Amino acid sequence: MIDQNKILLTPGPVPIPPYVLEALARPMIHHRGPEFARTLETVRESLKQVFRTSQPVLIMASTGSGAMEAAMVNILRRGDRVLVINSGKFGERWSKMAAVYGLRLLEYCVPWGEAADLGKIDSLLKEHPDCKAVFCQACETSTGTVHPIREIAELTAQLEDGLFVVDAITALGTMDLPMDEWHIDVMISGAQKAFMLPPGISFIAMSERAQGRIQTSDLPVFYFDLKNELKAYRKGETYFSSPVTHIRALEVVLPEISGANMEKRITRCRALMNFTHKVCRAWGLTLYSKNPASGLTAVAVPDQIDGQHLRDLIEDRYHVTFMGGQDQLKGRIIRVGHIGYITDDDIKQGMMALGSALRDLGYGISSDILRDAITTHEVELH
Ligand SMILES: Cc1ncc(COP(=O)(O)O)c(C=O)c1O
Repeated sequence: MIDQNKILLTPGPVPIPPYVLEALARPMIHHRGPEFARTLETVRESLKQVFRTSQPVLIMASTGSGAMEAAMVNILRRGDRVLVINSGKFGERWSKMAAVYGLRLLEYCVPWGEAADLGKIDSLLKEHPDCKAVFCQACETSTGTVHPIREIAELTAQLEDGLFVVDAITALGTMDLPMDEWHIDVMISGAQKAFMLPPGISFIAMSERAQGRIQTSDLPVFYFDLKNELKAYRKGETYFSSPVTHIRALEVVLPEISGANMEKRITRCRALMNFTHKVCRAWGLTLYSKNPASGLTAVAVPDQIDGQHLRDLIEDRYHVTFMGGQDQLKGRIIRVGHIGYITDDDIKQGMMALGSALRDLGYGISSDILRDAITTHEVELH
C-alpha cells in the first residue's frame, strides 16, 4: 500500500506538485508531430532562462549522471589532462568517469563538508596550465556543501584552453548560477531536483567555446553524441525518441521556476534552510557542512545514535523520508531536502519527526524544547 501521507524530504527526488502529476498523466502524443514540436520549442526557450544562457539547453533522456558523462566525453580528447574537484560522492563520480575514458586525472580531494579552496585550485592550475577542463559540483549533495563557482570560473579562465564544467544537478534553482555571466562553459542539471519532475531526464548547456570543442573530441561515444543532439536541436527535435511525458510536464512547471519565479524559489529554499538550521541548533545538533547549501541540510547525528537506525525509525514510525549519508558518512548524517513542493506543514512535521525519533533513541531533549524550537523558528518560513 502506498502511504499517501508520507512526507518526502530528500534532496532528490523531491515532492511533485499536483499540477505536474496531472501533466504526467496526459495521453501520449508522437514526438515528431506538430503539437510536441510546439511544446519542445516553448520548453527550450524557458530552459535558457533557468540556465541564464543564450545557448541551447539540450534535454537528455537519462538521469543526471548521463549528462555528466555526456559533458565529459564530448569536450575532450584521449589523454587530455583534467582537474576534478572531488568533494564527495558526486565529485568522485567525475574522477571515476575520467579513469574510464583514459583521461590524465589531476584530482583535488577537498575534505568532505568543506568548500573548495581557491588558493589550492589556483596553484594546481598554474602547475598544470595544459588542463583542458575543470570539473566541479556547484552543490555536493552527499555532504550538503556549496562551492564558490563564480571564483572557480575566474581561475579556470587563466587556462589557455580549459573549459569549466559545473554539475548543477542539485544547485540549479536553489542558488544564483547565471551561466553566461559567470563564464561557465558546460552546466548540467537533472529533472528530480528544482524541476520537480520524476527522475529520468537531464539537461546540458554549453558555451560557444564548448560547442566548438565537441567538433574535435575523439573519445568513444554513441548515445551521448552531442554533435547529433545539436544538429537535431537546430531542426527543433531531439536526436532519439523524445521523453515526451517528461517534457510536457516540464512545459507546465517551467513558468513556476523561471523568470521572476526563480528568485522566489531560491528564497523559499533559503527559508527552509534557515528554519532547519535554527531548529537543529536549538536542539543542540551540529550541522555537518562548513559551507551549507540551500538545497539541503546535512545534520550530524549525535555520536551515541546510529544514523541508519534513526532514519528507519523516522520512516516507519513517523512516515517521513530523509536521506542518510554515504561511505564515510554512513550512519553519521541525516540529509534534509529543501527543494520542490514542500509546504510549511511538511517541513515542520518532518523536523518534528526527526526530533521525536532522536528522543525515542535516547537523545536528551525534552518534548517542550522540541516543540518550542519549531514554533519559535517557523517565522523563518514566511
Ligand atoms: C550533485 C549531483 N550530481 C550527480 C547526481 C547524479 O544524478 P542521477 O542520480 O540523476 O544520475 C546527483 C544525484 O542526486 C547529484 O546530486
